[in-house]
Amino acid sequence: MEEECFAICGSFIHSTDQAAVETLKNKCLGVKHGKIVFLDDTELVQDRLSEFGIPEENVLKLKEKQFVIPGFIDTHIHAPQYPNAGKGLDMGLLEWLEKYTFPTEMKFKDLKYASSTYRRVVSRVLKNGTTTACYFATIDTDATLLLCGIINDLGQRALVGKVNMNQNSPEYYMEHSVEESILETRRYIETINKRDYKYITAVVTPRFAISCCEELMKRLGQLAAEFNIPVQTHICESRAEVEFVSSLYPDCTSYADVYDKAGLLTDKTVLAHCIYLTEDEIELIKERGSAVSHCPNSNLSIRSGLLDVQKLLQQGVQVGLGTDVSGGYHPSILDAIRVAVHVSNSHAIIAANGYKSLSVRDAFRLATLEGAKALSLDTVVGNFEVGKEFDALLIDLDSPDSHVDVFDEDTLEDCLDKFLYTGDDRNIRAVYVGGRKVLDAENTYTQRNSLNNGLNGH
Ligand code: GUN
Ligand code: FE
Repeated sequence: MEEECFAICGSFIHSTDQAAVETLKNKCLGVKHGKIVFLDDTELVQDRLSEFGIPEENVLKLKEKQFVIPGFIDTHIHAPQYPNAGKGLDMGLLEWLEKYTFPTEMKFKDLKYASSTYRRVVSRVLKNGTTTACYFATIDTDATLLLCGIINDLGQRALVGKVNMNQNSPEYYMEHSVEESILETRRYIETINKRDYKYITAVVTPRFAISCCEELMKRLGQLAAEFNIPVQTHICESRAEVEFVSSLYPDCTSYADVYDKAGLLTDKTVLAHCIYLTEDEIELIKERGSAVSHCPNSNLSIRSGLLDVQKLLQQGVQVGLGTDVSGGYHPSILDAIRVAVHVSNSHAIIAANGYKSLSVRDAFRLATLEGAKALSLDTVVGNFEVGKEFDALLIDLDSPDSHVDVFDEDTLEDCLDKFLYTGDDRNIRAVYVGGRKVLDAENTYTQRNSLNNGLNGH
C-alpha cells in the first residue's frame, strides 16, 4: 500500500475554533501526498476515491472502539533530560538545574552517548502519540544536529533548539563568550537549513535570562529575525527565578521586558511556564503575539507553582501544552492533559466562587489545535481540515492489554474522555506524520517485548 495515498473510514474526533471537540461519525478521510484531500460522509466514498485516484485496497475501515484524533503537540520538552525522567524531583528549579540537569546535559557532548540516548527519547515520545515536539537540546551544536538526524529518521515533526547559556552556569557546562555562542548558533541554523529537512525547523533557544547576558540575548534576537525562525525560552517559572532576574536586569521593568528589549518576543516565540506574569507582562506578550507553553506536571513536580491557564485563555493569550521532561516526569501529552485539568480544578477549589476550570476537552484542544497555533504550524497541522497534513493517531480502546473499559452506554464523546483520562500508549495503534505511518502497534508491541526480555535477563 502506498503509504501517502489512502483513505480511512470510521469515526474522527478533532477540535475547531468553534468547538473544543467535534465528533465526526461514519466519515471517510482521504490522504494524498501527505495531505488531507477530503473528509466526507461514507456514502460519498466511491466518488471521492475515483476523484483522487485512491485505489480501493488502500481504504482502511476502522473497527468498533477505534477512532482517529490529531497527533499530540508537545510545545516544550528537553530531549537530553529524558534519562532523568522520574528522578531527582526533590529540589526547586534553580538547585535542580545545578544538581541534576546540567550534569546530565553535559554528557551529550559525547556523541555516542547522545546518539543512543536521543534515539530512545524520540522513540518514546513518538510512541506516546506526540507527532510534533518543540525540543530544547543542549549547548553542543554537533549533538543537537545529531538529534535532528534522529528525529528525521524516525519521522517526527519538530522544532529543535541548540541551547545558549553564557553566564551563571557551571564552568563545565557553558559557552565562554557571546561570539562563540552566536557563531555556533549560526552554524547550527545554517546546517539545518542546508539539510532541508521536510519536518524539522531550527529554533533560537536562549535557556533563560539567568543564563544569558543581555548582549547574547540581543544577538539571538537578531539571528531569529535574520533567519525568520521561532524563539523558545523559559519565563516566570519560579519565585526565586523571577527575583534573580529582577536583580540581574534592574533597568528592565519586568522579566518579559528583558526578553522584549532583546527582540526575543515575536509572534513565533514560545514561552514556557508563565506562572508569575504580571498583568503588564500578559498584555505585552499578547501584543507581541508570543505563545505560552503550559507544563503542569513540571510545575507540580518541582513545586514551581500553579498556572491559572483559564485566566490566560480568557485574556486571549495563545496557550499550548508541554511535558517539560524532566522537570515533568512524564513524556506523554496525555499526562499533560490530565494534570492541566487537575491544576485548573485546584484553582476552582481554592476560589470556591463558581470559577470555571479547564475541561478535559478544552485540554484536548490545547494539546492539538492550540499547540499547533503556539508553534505557528496551524496552517499545516492541528486538526483534520482539508488541505492540512495528516498528522494523526489511530486510537483503539480494545487494543491488547488496554486499560480502558468501554460500556454499552458509552458514546463516542465518552470514549474520547475515557481515552484522555485512562488510556495510554497501548491504545495508540498507529502514529501518522505527514500521511506516513511512522509507528504501528506491531512495532509498539515488539519494542515492549524486547524491553521486558531485557529486564528479565537481569
Ligand atoms: N529554566 C531554565 N532551564 C530550565 C530547564 O531545563 N527546565 C525547566 N523546567 N526550567 C528551566
Ligand atoms: Fe523547560
